[in-house]
Amino acid sequence: MTHSLTIRRPDDWHLHLRDGAMLQAVLPETARHFARAIIMPNLVPPVVKGDHAAAYRDRILAALPDGMTFEPLMTLYLTEDTDAEDMAAAHASGLVKAVKLYPAGATTNSASGVRDFDKVRGVLEKMAEIGLPLCVHGEVTDAEIDIFDREAVFIDRVLDPIRKATPGLRVVMEHITTSNGVEYVKANDTDLGATITTHHLIINRNHLLVGGIRPHYYCLPVAKREEHRLALRAAATSGDVRFFLGTDSAPHTDPNKLSDCGCAGCFTAPNTMSLLAHVFEEEGALDKLEGFASLNGPAFYKLPVNSETITLTKGDVAEFPDKIETGDGPVTVFDPGFPVHWHVTA
Ligand code: NCD
Ligand code: ZN
Repeated sequence: MTHSLTIRRPDDWHLHLRDGAMLQAVLPETARHFARAIIMPNLVPPVVKGDHAAAYRDRILAALPDGMTFEPLMTLYLTEDTDAEDMAAAHASGLVKAVKLYPAGATTNSASGVRDFDKVRGVLEKMAEIGLPLCVHGEVTDAEIDIFDREAVFIDRVLDPIRKATPGLRVVMEHITTSNGVEYVKANDTDLGATITTHHLIINRNHLLVGGIRPHYYCLPVAKREEHRLALRAAATSGDVRFFLGTDSAPHTDPNKLSDCGCAGCFTAPNTMSLLAHVFEEEGALDKLEGFASLNGPAFYKLPVNSETITLTKGDVAEFPDKIETGDGPVTVFDPGFPVHWHVTA
């Protein structure tokens, strides 16, 4: 039985760090274990231009505690007014590593997202030309589409047409939650990858809704049926290089989660690596964890893998804080609902 595992230092290919007091509090939780992260641009107002991304990057680095190293990989929020030249310059300078597509209204702070996909055609073509990946929040927002079907419908109605119309565009389907997402990735080529969150490997929709509603398990895309969770587990632990970790760790204060209209997001940054070791061990795939968390993402983004390592050790039940305090209020840490024995020890 394996009791210790040393892997290349992981990266998080989908992370919400927020800003201000929240950023200050949550950044160390990621930087403790992760070398780099793709930083989501859904601030208010969103990060839409190169100079916004540069200023946000500076605020992140200023919030990093002394003695910690961390590289934020910046993204731009795609709007119908995105300036292709500004975007290309921000990419050429090395600042911006991806552009994020939110269908308007899909999730937290997505009001500036895209309504009419024809309006971004020129920007997408420019991205294909310069090799800048598109990260997509893959859910349609049409009122008549059931929330549990929104990912599958997005693939057929939006993603597949965009990819067919834009040859060479490199796309990451963010936080896939369905077997439809897994199958779509597998049926395509290496220009298409997908991130999978930690929490979607652990919870299905019953965890969210049975025996009382669990607001801290509410995130978008919402957790689906068990068969979909199992498909995600199979994909993440398969060794297929097109699947990699994007935690989508998305902190909201408890008052904002526990309200009549609670915010979507699970805060998994503090315990993600321990939880992943647990999941991969359950699947008999500890040898695939390094690929998922540390190798496949850099390969997709054409970045070097990290030279440092982390070590996970199995021992007594790991204790994680229930909450972390932030200047904006407490943020509850994702509770998997079972004991976890893996610790990041070095
Ligand atoms: C994210 C957030 O809070 O910013 N919430 C979430 O449930 N994942 C937005 C997002 O990625 O959809
Ligand atoms: Zn997200």
